This record gives sequence, structure tokens and C-alpha cells, in this order.
Amino acid sequence: MTGLSRNASGVACLGGTPLLELLEQAQVRTPVYVYDLDAIAGETRALVSAFGRAPHVVAYAVKANTAGSIVRTIAECGGGADIVSGGELEVALRCGVAPHKIVMSGVAKQDWELDRAIGAEILGLQLESVEEIPRVAARAKALGKRANVSIRINPAVSIDSHAHIATGHDEAKFGVIMADLPVALERVAAYAAHLRLAGLSTHVGSMLATVEPYLSSARVIVDAALRLGPRLAELEFLDFGGGYGIDYEREPVAPPGDFARASLALLEQAGLSRLTLVVEPGRALVAPFGVLLARTLQSKSSSTRRFCLVDAGMNDLIRPALYQARHRIEPVERPPGGSEWQVVGPVCESADDFGLHALGDRVPEHVVIRDAGAYGFTMASEYNGRPLPAEVFVSGGRVVRVSASGGVAAWVDRRASA
Ligand code: LLP
Repeated sequence: MTGLSRNASGVACLGGTPLLELLEQAQVRTPVYVYDLDAIAGETRALVSAFGRAPHVVAYAVKANTAGSIVRTIAECGGGADIVSGGELEVALRCGVAPHKIVMSGVAKQDWELDRAIGAEILGLQLESVEEIPRVAARAKALGKRANVSIRINPAVSIDSHAHIATGHDEAKFGVIMADLPVALERVAAYAAHLRLAGLSTHVGSMLATVEPYLSSARVIVDAALRLGPRLAELEFLDFGGGYGIDYEREPVAPPGDFARASLALLEQAGLSRLTLVVEPGRALVAPFGVLLARTLQSKSSSTRRFCLVDAGMNDLIRPALYQARHRIEPVERPPGGSEWQVVGPVCESADDFGLHALGDRVPEHVVIRDAGAYGFTMASEYNGRPLPAEVFVSGGRVVRVSASGGVAAWVDRRASA
């Protein structure tokens, strides 16, 4: 798996080809996301193979990056999808993800989204509240179907992560808390004609550096399964969620395969190896293999600060502004090092600031923002009249697909006529 590398002249490459050469091939302007599809395929295959012959589904959390080229690549490597909306469901189906490898999460699903998921006969509709149960049963009844459902359990496990991405503590809006589980199970049983309890699931949050918190939350699910009694026989899967961290430069993190192996061992100890193990990684499969390429517009120095003003902003990559996330930023033309510059974007907000980075004595012509393959484009906006950036997909060292930016003119037309 590569992601960003440097050639013998120190120039930044993706998939082995200099980034600026890829930009030329793609005929697009900065800011632009560039992704290495071969590296994404390699990482997916490595995770899939960590499960060996055990029944499993690597349900890629599509919210991390919804680009068809990426969803198709992961599906071709044996992956499934964890989706949270009707739109994501359509993308997954269109990209060849098999319905029996799709799980749908989400605390507030619309009727049409439920109908589409039930109609497609996906592996599991994850129920996130007691109140949702009669709603799903009614939709299934109207469609003349029996929906495969799972109860998403909130494991009441706190993780050491930014508050916005910790989901498994019991005050979060996600999942059914343990105290409500008996009622939820009762309700599902009451609607047995239209609901089949296919699974139990959880997701404790994102950016896990070690497997321990993941296992703590998985144990809650395993214990709940063991307490099902005769109903355990109809259960088809356990879903331990996603959240595998990556090394954004903070600390070393456990690779995805470690989470898979530890989860399998847990199932085996519990005597539950016949169940399909579902996992929902998003970030770990894509983040390190995508970059945001930007051009320096100018520098700005005062007696107190030195700024490198680039053409990518918080509207293109919001993670630093929203989570105080640090993404390494490096010159494209030469390796990082030397004097530090405050790298900032053009958006009229103080939060439009990517932090201090060692760019050298002069500002470089282009900079590369690393580890931007997940929650980059999918969270981008058009704030300040800035159209969504282009995306370029690379395989075999060449550009294989380009998703162009809508451009400023289209934005102007749409807004002016609104
Ligand atoms: N499953 C569920 C139910 C989730 O809510 C999420 C992420 C995942 C799986 C995938 O988590 P991952 O493996 O990617 O950590 N925008 C934030 C991350 C928000 C994650 C939301 N849920 C960020 O940029 O860090």
C-alpha cells in the first residue's frame, strides 16, 4: 500500500507518479482530491484476508468517501457497505455491492429510505431506538415483506477521541442503551411476521488507536447475543462497527487486520463462530490513500506571523476546523523541512487554518495535504461561493477517472436564480 511517496528527486507522487503530472493528465485545476485506487484495493484485500475462512462482511462505511470509483474498487475486492441514507444505498447498489453485504445505520431514517432498504433485502437494517421498531414493521407490512433487522446497541463505552466522533457513550443519540434492550427485543418479537432479528450491532466511535475499546464494546454485543436464549438460533450476524484509526502523525495505530483477528478470537471464545462477523471501517480503507492538492496563491508575512495562503479551504476539507484535526502539509516539489508557515485557506473564517507546517524558506508553488481520502470531499461545501473541488482517481500510475468540479459559473447561475 503506498499513498503519498517521493521519487528520487524528492517530488511528491501518488501511485508512483508525480502529482503535478497527474494534474496535467486530468486537466483539472486545484484544489483537487487525488486518490490511489490500487492502494485502497490493497488495504481492502488485506483486511478481507485477515478473516480467513470465517464468515464475514467488511461493510465499508460509505460516508467516508462516496465516490463510485472507490465504492466499486472496494466491492470488487470483496467488500460490502455500511450506509446511512437512501442516497448512499443507491450508490452502493449501483457500484455493484451485493445487498446481502449491506447494513444500514442511522437514527432518523425516512420512510422512502426504509422502503428502499427493505425492498432491496439488505443484510440488516440497524434499529437505533425502540420507537423505530413499529415504524419499520409497518413499512415491511405495507411492502408485504419480512425485513432483516438488527438492534444497534449503545455499549456505554467511552473512548479517547474527539467528542464529535465518540458515539458509544450512553448519552449519545446513537443506538439502544442496554437498559432498553429487553423492551426492544420484545417489540421486535411482537412484530415477528414482518421483522426478523438477523443481527446485533454496535459502533463505539472513530479514531481507535488500539483494539481494546473496540473489544470492550464487542463484548457487550457478544454477551447480549448469549443472553438471547432460543432466539440466538435465528441470528445471522454480529456487527462490531468501524472506527479503526489511522496515523495522522499523532501516534502509531493498530492496523485493521488486528481488529479483525481480535474480533474473530472473541467470537470463537464465546462459541459464536457460526455467526457472520460484520465490521464497518471507513477511514482506515481510504484516508491514507487520498490527498488534497492545492496551489499557493501568495505568502503574507508580518512581524509576528508567516502565512502560506493556499487555494484549498475549510470548505474543501473541514476536519481541521471542526475537530482540530491535524493533517500533514508538505511542499509538492520538494520534501518537507525547514521554516514553518501557517497554512491558511481563502475562506472568511478564522477557523480556515490548517496549522503550522515545515514548508522551507520560500513558500512552495503547490502543497499536498495528506490523509485526506476520508471525510474530505464528502464533508465539503460551497461556502463562500467556492464550488466543490474536482476528484482524480489513479490506478497503475495513471489517471483512470476524473470527476470535474461544477465550477464557479454553475454556482453563480444556481445561486443567482435561487
Ligand atoms: N459505522 C458507523 C455506524 C458510523 O457512524 C461510522 C462513522 C463508521 C462506521 C465508520 O467510522 P470510521 O471507521 O470511518 O472511523 N467525520 C469524522 C468521522 C465521523 C464518523 C462518523 N461515523 C472525521 O472526519 O473524523
